[in-house]
Amino acid sequence: MSNSFDFNGKVALVTGASSGIGRAAAKALAANGARVAINFHRNEAGAEATRQEIIADGSSAIAIQADVTQASGVQSLVERTVAELGPIDILVNNAGSLIERLRILELTEERWDEVIDLNLKSAFLCCRAVAASMMERKAGVIVNVSSIAGRTGGALGSIHYSTAKGGLITFTKGLAKELAPFGVRVNAISPGVIDTRYHEQFSTPEVMKSYVAGIPLGRVGTPEEVAEVICFLASDAASYLAGETIEINGGMFMD
Ligand code: NAI
Repeated sequence: MSNSFDFNGKVALVTGASSGIGRAAAKALAANGARVAINFHRNEAGAEATRQEIIADGSSAIAIQADVTQASGVQSLVERTVAELGPIDILVNNAGSLIERLRILELTEERWDEVIDLNLKSAFLCCRAVAASMMERKAGVIVNVSSIAGRTGGALGSIHYSTAKGGLITFTKGLAKELAPFGVRVNAISPGVIDTRYHEQFSTPEVMKSYVAGIPLGRVGTPEEVAEVICFLASDAASYLAGETIEINGGMFMD
């Protein structure tokens, strides 16, 4: 993990940080000096392990339970972060999941809503909860974790998920326009195939093989490689980026 960014004195909140990309992002932000709030939903053990690893590295972190699909949960997540660490400078909207591969005739209204809420509404709720403070302080960065699926429509059985992730890219652009005049930058990343629990749940070994065959770099990505791009967007090195979505996919998809 690199130490190429300077987040000393900054407070970061990462949603869904008990595993995978969120966990790697929390660790990378902390390794570069941020005090980090690790949000988790059900995986308390994963959040605690992340916190312990950050503390063992000499940085500060707290773990906070909240369901980011609920406005009340998001409100208390942000309030606790501010009370315990200070005003939020960096928000990473990472929580998300496909939940279940379903084609249109199998996709219930409830499952559609659940996936849209988890991958899209959650980002709106978290951004709304930090926006006033960031605008007032004329500082802050938001990084939304979208997906290659949001660009391509996704693999079969993911229209609920890919639609939410596509919406997140549009949301990123619209919010970037609103907040840029206040000195707040909003950007997104769009990972390709990254080695996390996500694919353990949703992709068979055969599907993984076919993915790798279509990746010019010849391998899947690591959560740490994605975390580096999140850190870049959160840093002053990206001071002129607003409303951008960075692809990180080993060349699998080029716009
Ligand atoms: P993951 O399953 O390890 O991470 C998802 C996280 O979201 C988990 O920590 C989970 O506990 C959390 N979460 C789920 N529901 C929540 C809720 N209601 N409230 C708070 N947290 C909740 O998988 P991964 O891959 O690290 O996923 C992270 C993000 O990256 C997701 O948004 C995913 O859609 C996105 N992504 C992943 C890709 C991959 O290839 N792994 C590719 C493109 C995007």
